Amino acid sequence: MTVAPSYVPGPLVDTADVLRADEEHLIHPLQHPSDHARPLLFVRGEGAELIDSEGNRYIDGLSCLWNVNVGHGRAELADAAAAQMRQLAYASAYVGFVNAPAALLAERLVDVAYPNMSGVYFTTSGAEANESAFKMARYYWKLRGLPDKVKVISRRWGYHGVTMAAASATGLPVYHKMFAPLVPNFVQAVGPYRFRCEMEGPDGPRPCTAPEEHDYAAELERTLVAEGPETVAAIIAEPIQGAGGVIPPPADYWAKLRAIADRHEVLLIADEVITGFGRTGRWFGLEHWGVQPDLLSFAKGVTSAYLPLGGVIVSRTLHEAIQGAPADMKFMHAATYSGHPTCCAVALANLDIIEREALVQRAAELAPRFLQRLETLRALPRVGDVRGLGMMAAVELVDPGASGAAYYDNAAPLAGRVMRESMRRGLIPRLRGNVVCLAPPLVTTDEQVERLVQILGDAIQATA
Ligand SMILES: Cc1ncc(COP(=O)(O)O)c(C=O)c1O
Repeated sequence: MTVAPSYVPGPLVDTADVLRADEEHLIHPLQHPSDHARPLLFVRGEGAELIDSEGNRYIDGLSCLWNVNVGHGRAELADAAAAQMRQLAYASAYVGFVNAPAALLAERLVDVAYPNMSGVYFTTSGAEANESAFKMARYYWKLRGLPDKVKVISRRWGYHGVTMAAASATGLPVYHKMFAPLVPNFVQAVGPYRFRCEMEGPDGPRPCTAPEEHDYAAELERTLVAEGPETVAAIIAEPIQGAGGVIPPPADYWAKLRAIADRHEVLLIADEVITGFGRTGRWFGLEHWGVQPDLLSFAKGVTSAYLPLGGVIVSRTLHEAIQGAPADMKFMHAATYSGHPTCCAVALANLDIIEREALVQRAAELAPRFLQRLETLRALPRVGDVRGLGMMAAVELVDPGASGAAYYDNAAPLAGRVMRESMRRGLIPRLRGNVVCLAPPLVTTDEQVERLVQILGDAIQATA
């Protein structure tokens, strides 16, 4: 599959001037000057590749931030935005008003989501989608006369965004340290986590131990019971942990979570911000295990990042509850850009591309080749594990000479070097500690998959 280059060069920018303005004024996500000594200035994207200001090309190994599912340079999406902006760039979608793209996109999303779903609330990001999901869960229980059901159980190592409540659900302490205290009533349980399972093994680390050995769902249930299910509104989890280091769960994990949620009358939120829209070779991640959540958070791939959009798709039961609420208990949740016509028009055009080019199926077909090629890296002594599902994968670097936590932690500096060397050779992956995360666009060609694996393997060998 090829994507025609579609970039129309704009006025030339002065690279030095951009870098100066950046250094003097721009505060970046995860800002620290030592990580920004030599920033890459991207000027163009084509299919699965990014091009920098010096004309160097890079395979976009993570679809930027797991989001450019249909690849870069899609003029069709720019045209959809321009056409909608010319006609009606924005109008409020607050109650009493509607616009065509928002309503039609809601219907389209319900069609591709799980069969139990019927209503959609739009946001502009993944974190805001999760914030909205938490509020919807609390709202539902208050409507049901159970106002004490307010807590949210998430998992350690999960990532749900970094606005205050989303950060409180996020189970990566690095995102908490300088922003505590967290929001009360957010509780983290143990979740599938490869290193931890190994580190806690009786005989020190055991490389590549299957997570199947642990009953993580039972551990989560113990946390839920200890908190008191009558105080818990929802469990939130990513179908496959992404930012935590691409951790696919044991095969029976999600069916168990569904049963636990039902047993204790707690809602189940699937955070599909990464796993939605074909990333795993299905429209949504839980299709792999035949499980339906009560709420589904989405963002990223819904527009393939061409414009910001996110939201929550809810089950018929929740939707009916919202629709049937008495006037004094109405859904007083809102955002200026909920149902933004231009963002929704771009999402509709993005779904057209995914369907017309059968990209969900393409991801399912490409994934085994992608993972098989990555598996060859296991032969390298510094590669402790290769794992993934669909077009999401991780290559975990280790220090075979160390034991305990050092087996993993010692490899983090190596991972930094591998990242820099990969970039020098034309690949942009993403790191999580000692783990190299990969999730290239669904339009990545076989040749690009080959090149990606070759570059990563060479970078590991050159720096190990
Ligand atoms: C699973 C998951 N949920 C939520 C978010 C937060 O999305 P955003 O950065 O759009 O707020 C992310 C971002 O990477 C994510 O991976």
